[in-house]
Amino acid sequence: MSDIKVNVQNSDGSLTTLEAPTDMGLSLMEFLKGNEYDILATCGGMALCATCHVSVVNGFDALHPISDDEYAMLDTLPNITDTSRLACQLKLNPGMEGIIVKILGDH
Ligand code: FES
Repeated sequence: MSDIKVNVQNSDGSLTTLEAPTDMGLSLMEFLKGNEYDILATCGGMALCATCHVSVVNGFDALHPISDDEYAMLDTLPNITDTSRLACQLKLNPGMEGIIVKILGDH
């Protein structure tokens, strides 16, 4: 079993560190929802609602490349950042150890 540390940057800049399993096939969106973060995920993880929008503060380059569908959705957002991703498109994996994300989606 290999857990990774996922850090969520709070609005005051502090970090909340969570232990996340990488062997359950969970997406970052599902994991954050499961930890009581208020993410609507209206589309159920289909890259269609953008309510799971996160900015990756640290660890962006280690993520798999953005797909055309994900990019098309992100591109509609007024608050897109250089390191924006849809959390539902990020399957938890060991390469994400120590990632820091800020939750930007509507909730
Ligand atoms: S849950 Fe809808 S885009 Fe991620």
